[in-house]
Amino acid sequence: MAAKMWYIDPVMQTMLSTMGGEAIKEIYGHFFAPRAIFTGRIGATALSMLVAFMRERRKAFILSDTVVERHARSVAKDFQEAGFQTTIWNESAPEPPVSLVEKCAAEMTKFEPDLIIAVGGGSTMDLAKAAWILYELPGYDLKAVSPLLPMGLRKKALLAAYPTTSGTGSEVTWASVLTDDSVTPPVKIEVSSAEIVPDFAVLLPEFTVGMPPMLTAGTGLDALAHSVDGYLTCYDTDICDALAIKSIELIFKFLPRAYKNPNDMEARYRMQLAATIAGLAFGNSQAALTHSLGHSVGKVFGIHHGIAVSIFIPYAIQYYSRASKKYVQLAQKIGIEAKDEEECLQKLVDRFKEFLLSFKVPYALKEHGITKERWQKNLADVAKHAWEDACTGASPRPTSIIDIKKMLDYAYEGKDIDF
Ligand SMILES: [Fe+2]
Repeated sequence: MAAKMWYIDPVMQTMLSTMGGEAIKEIYGHFFAPRAIFTGRIGATALSMLVAFMRERRKAFILSDTVVERHARSVAKDFQEAGFQTTIWNESAPEPPVSLVEKCAAEMTKFEPDLIIAVGGGSTMDLAKAAWILYELPGYDLKAVSPLLPMGLRKKALLAAYPTTSGTGSEVTWASVLTDDSVTPPVKIEVSSAEIVPDFAVLLPEFTVGMPPMLTAGTGLDALAHSVDGYLTCYDTDICDALAIKSIELIFKFLPRAYKNPNDMEARYRMQLAATIAGLAFGNSQAALTHSLGHSVGKVFGIHHGIAVSIFIPYAIQYYSRASKKYVQLAQKIGIEAKDEEECLQKLVDRFKEFLLSFKVPYALKEHGITKERWQKNLADVAKHAWEDACTGASPRPTSIIDIKKMLDYAYEGKDIDF
């Protein structure tokens, strides 16, 4: 695990930026998604029956953690009734280290499943994707996984994902975010391949009811950042645009309800849909600066992923606006009226700032308990990590480490981007 990830390479970054250009869209495009997405109790039963017809050995390995293990048990029951032998592995952990992925894959190898099921948040689903690779291809270097290299998964098992939060969209995306703990200090790595898109996603709103309000807000705002970036990124497509806009509409309408009343089942259901729809959008058109800057700030200062990335929505929109007028379409789609582009941008940015504040999420980083001294001490490192992040190459405005550092400083103070 010594080599750098494939995307930390100036040639690759340039190639990725070029691939996102307008000229290439007519000759290359893609949209990866699960074979099927089921919703609700009857949908979950239908999936277990469908998969029973598709599998011969009918052995399901279910990944979970101790917090949501009760949901894993209910999924196991569905599959047992469909004729599966099941086992639950409940050792999933946040930001899964590669050593844990290897441990999980070793357990899979002992059980020999022909179906892998993830029941949990983004970390559990990401862990399942990576462990699945090592189960199918023992000894494979996860750092060598690339969207450009076929692996030939699915010779041993299929993957189904049951999210218990509404935000990451990992149930439908081709990315797995892990922690490389073979180096000191451990670093975040992103493993991406179209082959790790789960075969099936199952949305059961009752699985998200236990989320406390701040987790509801954080995960929902993560989905919002996915949709905003998914709409504005240089990899945008008409398919992703339609999905991103629907997701933003759902989040504006239903996240405040789910936040205020955790038992509002309609709001929980719509937020699950919103997160999955956002996942389909940004999973194909990529997240950009909200995520590269948010990843870095979140990691260094210990801020929840969804909160950290959503803070950058207003700044990213302002920064992109100098290179692309697509923000005007976004504003129109969410009902903003303005006399000119300047007013349109201001109203759009204000709409997102107000939305963040309604969940007690200040958009100035200094209001997140980061002292000026600590900020200045870490700024160079935060900027470097953000610059090297896989999402940076998807910015619709070509950027630089100088601009990134400047954006970070503006976000610390809560200042509008004016460059
Ligand atoms: Fe995210």
